[in-house]
Amino acid sequence: MRAADIDALLHDPAPDPAALAAAVEACDRAYFDHQDAFVPDQTYDRLVERLRERWPEAPALQAIGGARGRAATQEGAATDAGGDSDPHDEEGRVVHSVPMLSLGKCYDVQGFSQWLGDANVALVASPKIDGAAVAIRYDASGRLMAAGSRGDGKRGESVLHNVRRVPRVPEQLPAAALAGVGAAGVEVRGEVVLPLSAFAEVADLFANPRNVAAGVLKAKEEAGVPPERLAFFAYDLLGLPVEDEADKAVRLRALGFDPAPGERCSRDEAAAVFARWEAQRSTLDYEIDGVVFKISDLAEQRRLGSTAHHPRWAVAWKLQGDTGESRLLDLEWSLSRTGTITPVALVEPVELSGAMVGRATLHNLSTVEKLGLHLGDRLSLTRRGGVIPHVEANLGGGAGACLPPDACPSCGRPTAVRETEGSSSTRTLHCSQPAACPAVLRGQLFHYTAVIEIDGFGPKLLDALIEADLVHDAADLYRLRPDSLQRLPRMGETLATRLCANLDARRKVTLPALLVSLGIDSLGKHAAHLLAARWTLEELRRLPAAELAALHSLGALTADRIVAGLHDAAPLLDRLLEQIQIVDAERTGGGGGKLAGEQVVFTGKLERMGRRDAQQLVVRVGGVAGAAVTAETTMLVVGGDELAADPPSSKLAKARKSFATVGKPQILSEEAFFALVDAP
Ligand code: IVH
Repeated sequence: MRAADIDALLHDPAPDPAALAAAVEACDRAYFDHQDAFVPDQTYDRLVERLRERWPEAPALQAIGGARGRAATQEGAATDAGGDSDPHDEEGRVVHSVPMLSLGKCYDVQGFSQWLGDANVALVASPKIDGAAVAIRYDASGRLMAAGSRGDGKRGESVLHNVRRVPRVPEQLPAAALAGVGAAGVEVRGEVVLPLSAFAEVADLFANPRNVAAGVLKAKEEAGVPPERLAFFAYDLLGLPVEDEADKAVRLRALGFDPAPGERCSRDEAAAVFARWEAQRSTLDYEIDGVVFKISDLAEQRRLGSTAHHPRWAVAWKLQGDTGESRLLDLEWSLSRTGTITPVALVEPVELSGAMVGRATLHNLSTVEKLGLHLGDRLSLTRRGGVIPHVEANLGGGAGACLPPDACPSCGRPTAVRETEGSSSTRTLHCSQPAACPAVLRGQLFHYTAVIEIDGFGPKLLDALIEADLVHDAADLYRLRPDSLQRLPRMGETLATRLCANLDARRKVTLPALLVSLGIDSLGKHAAHLLAARWTLEELRRLPAAELAALHSLGALTADRIVAGLHDAAPLLDRLLEQIQIVDAERTGGGGGKLAGEQVVFTGKLERMGRRDAQQLVVRVGGVAGAAVTAETTMLVVGGDELAADPPSSKLAKARKSFATVGKPQILSEEAFFALVDAP
């Protein structure tokens, strides 16, 4: 069944009930078999609603159970984890101690009130984190022994080998926090996500962060993104005595997990709490698709129990508008500074997550080909990470062909298709002679001057320099002299002299800055600092990808791209090194200097050392320790409790907001920070 067929069913005034039922079953199969919804949640929900109107007794609804069909009796999750014996079946799958259920949904105050009835109970609200659900099992002594994906809810795939590499998933639970544990051991459930800051680096290769998280968890071999870059938010705890949801969060934290953020609220406050999360959504470093409201008291949860589909003591109030439909008006092919020509869908403006959207990225040629786009097609759009609009599916209906251009939109030379190999083989379109393409050169020069912070070289001046044949690469900038600059229109002696002085002031460059300035895919600040802390430039240029990939938070995919990029950049690097000097602050004695160029601020309580000591450590390894988050801050290190604090501390809130707009400061957990500083 194709997405277009489902769309047709939704628009048919009198759809065939059997066809509706078949569509629901197909969606269920796709979801449970592959943990991969091939239609957006909202479409699925509309489909189920239509089926319920047309054929309330449909077996497909019975299978879903709950509000959509027959209510079953199923004890809720608040029972003991099931036995200390091996939870794996013969095929190595993990048999869940208690089914991993879904959540009932509502979309507005009415739906919320309908769920709660007239109960006046204490609630806890928590963001519905859009990742991959996992159940992690520990034996009675607190030793990690199994981890499973949701699977069909009863049994899931073992994901232990990767889950144990995810930060904040302890291998051993602290004995002090295990008081009251039964023979059955402890089970922690939660959501694994790929933080959006990490997703940004691979966004051109994967559909959405949820799929990457699910894929990385299940991968038998390194899947490009290492599990160390994932994050785990715990929302449930089985096997330990817990009184209410607040108590649960405290115990989860004591066990060493990051609980999903949660706050107490009354029924009257629920709408305001929902609105606040909706407003905060785009500032978070992970995707959310709703707010989960839970009745806090565990005894009450047990009394209410669950249907076969969802617990009765919780509801997901879904955020709306993250998916929408629009019509494809045109394709724009825009040239990047690397010479890649990226397709962008120009669509009739549509509102997504509260913003009007008229353009959506299609990432590369493969995406256009896979979607089979025609002008006039109806497209299903989502805002990935709440920010970048993305074309989710083609619902068809158009006719005009969408062919890639034969000529580079900038220089008119022929285009070329490049194919990357590997599991996710991708076809990308390029200008066949990027070295001779003025727009590529301008993009590269602009990037270089921005990263190296050379003042005065805006796009207009760069265009004039290229036009006058004065620069052919970044190294040529340093060869400019006042008299040659004065040949340009409207360039006086004073300005020409100042520009040359600006260039001279930037002939000393740190290694991370130089690496970033090359504009290599995936070689951003994060990777550059990791590399510079460990190798010299000359070592890096000779390094095989396998050695790079061994750096835990880098990953094979990034490593391949960096090695290829450094190889391509070799001539430029040689020419640059005739002009600039690398001030290697990164390697000043015994592995120090790792935080050169970084301005680090701490917030929350650090477990490993006091804040004063941590600040001194920053200075010892070449960084600057700041007290408050300012425009200069490049890193915010958040101690244990505070990452989950809700509302977040003012430092954290400010950092998140700034990160969402200007991409810094990087927000790091205590572990990630010490891993960076301690790295060999
Ligand atoms: S509580 C169902 N809290 O959403 C048992 N679930 O679509 C109670 N999820 O199966 C779950 N964030 O995997 C809970 N803050 C949160 C959550 C959350 C995400 C997931 C969970 C659940 C799914 C239902």
